Amino acid sequence: MSDRPLVICLGNVVADHTFRVEDIPQPPAKIPARGYSIGAGGMAANAAIAVVRLGGRAAFWGRVGDDLNGAPLAEALEAEGVDVSGLRRVPGGRTPVGAVLVDPRGERTIISFRGSGLGTDPSWLPLGRIREAGALCCDPRWPEGVAAAAAAAREAGVPVVLDGERSETRILVDLVPRVDHAVFSVPGLANYAPGCSPEEGLRRALASGPVKVAAVTQGEKGVLWLAPGMEKPRRTPAFPVEATNTTGAGDVFHGAYALAMAEGMDLEAAMRFASAAGALRARDGATPDRAMVEALLH
Ligand SMILES: Nc1ncnc2c1ncn2[C@@H]1O[C@H](COP(=O)(O)OP(=O)(O)O)[C@@H](O)[C@H]1O
Ligand SMILES: [Mg+2]
Repeated sequence: MSDRPLVICLGNVVADHTFRVEDIPQPPAKIPARGYSIGAGGMAANAAIAVVRLGGRAAFWGRVGDDLNGAPLAEALEAEGVDVSGLRRVPGGRTPVGAVLVDPRGERTIISFRGSGLGTDPSWLPLGRIREAGALCCDPRWPEGVAAAAAAAREAGVPVVLDGERSETRILVDLVPRVDHAVFSVPGLANYAPGCSPEEGLRRALASGPVKVAAVTQGEKGVLWLAPGMEKPRRTPAFPVEATNTTGAGDVFHGAYALAMAEGMDLEAAMRFASAAGALRARDGATPDRAMVEALLH
């Protein structure tokens, strides 16, 4: 037994193919790239990597296809120290993939494919392992998986964190009451509660079920959060950093927040810890380790 808590991250993993280009001309065009890399992206996958960097153990639960993009994703996550025994390669499925063009100013043009033929049936998930975990962290890209795992987590008393990222309204409305911590992005909260102010959206999430925390991350404006019994939402300000690449800041925030729950931090401390991790990701374009986060906190 390790005393590093386990966080199970369930949802999306994407093969991100990143090309550095001088510029993006009008079509038809053939664009030379002066750099290329392939890596694992996707909300839950980025969260899992963050959990390991920050000193926890992470398992990734999700699906890829048995195409050429599936195998390197499993390898990439494993190389980061993530347990991929719950990552299924679905026969005939197509792996989610992104093409990211980065110009010299760091501006990004992203083409993304959400995958296909991956199936929705969650019955193969190793739900018996949930009781080993200190937290479950989900994104909304596989709602059936979230529903099954969140129900098992609730039964086992394991806290569930949802990354309420941009999705169809009906998916978010279905998932929020199943989780303990509904932590939205700005567009995700607008999808969940169209036409509402952030505060109204958070109140709606809390009222929807036994939700213990509703929050919205607002980039450099920090995070606004509300728990039952609080009269007004509280704001945890962002750490001031020179942002170079904010892609993945929210994913890292969610991984860090779920780890904080697994470690038993109180809400105030967890919001600060996750904000520090998100800020460093935005500053460096890379996921920080625990020492870097502690240094920013102190
Ligand atoms: N430019 C930034 N400066 C400082 N902190 C940031 C910055 N961008 C993101 N963060 C931190 O990361 C959290 C999540 O980022 P956000 O941009 O809200 O999520 P997402 O990437 O999902 O849109 C923020 O609440 C904040 O704490
Ligand atoms: Mg996000």
